[in-house]
Amino acid sequence: MTGELSPIDKAKFVAAKRSVDYVEDGMRVGLGTGSTAAWMVRCLGELVRDQGLKIKGVPTSTRTAELARDVGIEVISLDEAKWLDLTIDGADEFDANLNLIKGGGGALLQEKIVATASDQMIVIADVGKEVETLGAFPLPVEVIPFGWETTKSLIEEMLISMDVLGRDASLRMNGDRPFVTDEGNYILDLHLGRIGAANQLAMVLNQMPGVVENGLFIDICDVVILGFGDGRVETRDINEGTVEEGKLDFLESDNLFTDLQD
Ligand code: A5P
Repeated sequence: MTGELSPIDKAKFVAAKRSVDYVEDGMRVGLGTGSTAAWMVRCLGELVRDQGLKIKGVPTSTRTAELARDVGIEVISLDEAKWLDLTIDGADEFDANLNLIKGGGGALLQEKIVATASDQMIVIADVGKEVETLGAFPLPVEVIPFGWETTKSLIEEMLISMDVLGRDASLRMNGDRPFVTDEGNYILDLHLGRIGAANQLAMVLNQMPGVVENGLFIDICDVVILGFGDGRVETRDINEGTVEEGKLDFLESDNLFTDLQD
């Protein structure tokens, strides 16, 4: 079964599998969104079902909430949890300082609120997400629908004074209609190529009328767990300054993996 998966899917799975080692009984856990985070939610569900792990999950999207309930995780709102022990989520890009671009799945707003309300944020990613400089992946910016074309023009104009290569913004579509986020907003994807001063750009974007949030996660992530297609995992902790390597044996975990696939 594992042989049928692409190396990228295997990499996402091993990163997700390793990340649930951080989850302990009684924790309130932020549950990310995306294909890598979905593996993590399934792995957590297995621990809840088979090992009696007791956690409360705060999902970052309706998709994740549905999956979490399906696999048996108790779901609560962020306001019920108030504060979280840990959030585990995917990313579209990360750099050496563990700054991120997120929002490829359109859930950046809830993801940023949940991650910021956590003692620790762990990002799980396949090795292709690591970059020297953020920006090759289009930067998602959540904007309110009212006046979005004006907001888009103002963003493009503002980008002239920023340290970026490209300045085009495109409205994210879902078929022939705008993609609508869980909060009822639109997403503008900024095709920047390279972001020289991510912190400055994140702050300037969030000061613009019409902008709700941007997909730059600066100084939020503490740990990145990097998965490789051959089962290797590398855990980098930015606060401790440590790098640990390990390997997940696909043969031993084959049944689990097969179950999770179904
Ligand atoms: C969701 O809005 C995103 O932030 C995801 O976390 C990100 O796009 C990573 O997704 P994958 O794990 O599917 O690559």
